[in-house]
Amino acid sequence: MKKFNSTTLITIHRLNDDAFKNVKGLTVSDEQVGFVEPIEQILKNLSNQVHGHVINDTRGAVGFFLIDTQYANDYEFCSQDSIGLRSFFIDKRYQGCGYGKQTVRLLQNYLSDIYDSYDDVYLTVNCKNPAAKHCYEQGGFIDIGELYFGGDYGPQHIMKLSLKAELV
Ligand SMILES: CC(C)(COP(=O)(O)OP(=O)(O)OC[C@H]1O[C@@H](n2cnc3c(N)ncnc32)[C@H](O)[C@@H]1OP(=O)(O)O)[C@@H](O)C(=O)NCCC(=O)NCCS
Repeated sequence: MKKFNSTTLITIHRLNDDAFKNVKGLTVSDEQVGFVEPIEQILKNLSNQVHGHVINDTRGAVGFFLIDTQYANDYEFCSQDSIGLRSFFIDKRYQGCGYGKQTVRLLQNYLSDIYDSYDDVYLTVNCKNPAAKHCYEQGGFIDIGELYFGGDYGPQHIMKLSLKAELV
């Protein structure tokens, strides 16, 4: 695992038994529930193919996301040599502090280290969620210019980040 600069406030770690109880306390605001499921639901997706990752500041867990190595089986727009980023969120108490932006800027380095046989990471972000789209763009994610209509909460932009391009 790569070490991050000691001045980096945010670190990302694979979910383990110790972090489980802290992660269960993470939540988003009522207006954001259409964008991510509650953490209890998100955690039900964990499997050998779907991995939890915890976003920490110096005090502990502040956010969470899933990496789905089988994303291409469920989403036509995703190529077979790609993974999916799902359920990305920062706890409502820590939003607006730059943590989302810091995390996405670490993602290319972090994910290319762990998922080194994959070329790209894909995600969908609701068209009603420009804040999240803007956040992803700051980590190098590119809008591929197509919409995904499969969710329950309206159309979503499809975004992609190369794990093979020169690291940002
Ligand atoms: C989207 C999310 C991850 C952003 O994390 P965050 O830590 O609050 O965001 P940051 O403080 O790092 O801000 C990142 C950028 O988004 C902007 N931003 C943050 N919240 C915003 C809002 N409500 N409206 C508009 N812009 C916003 C910031 O201004 C910043 O841009 P800038 O650097 O150009 O000023 C967080 O709000 C969240 O978890 N939302 C709920 C779940 C969600 O929507 N997940 C995405 C699912 S696809």
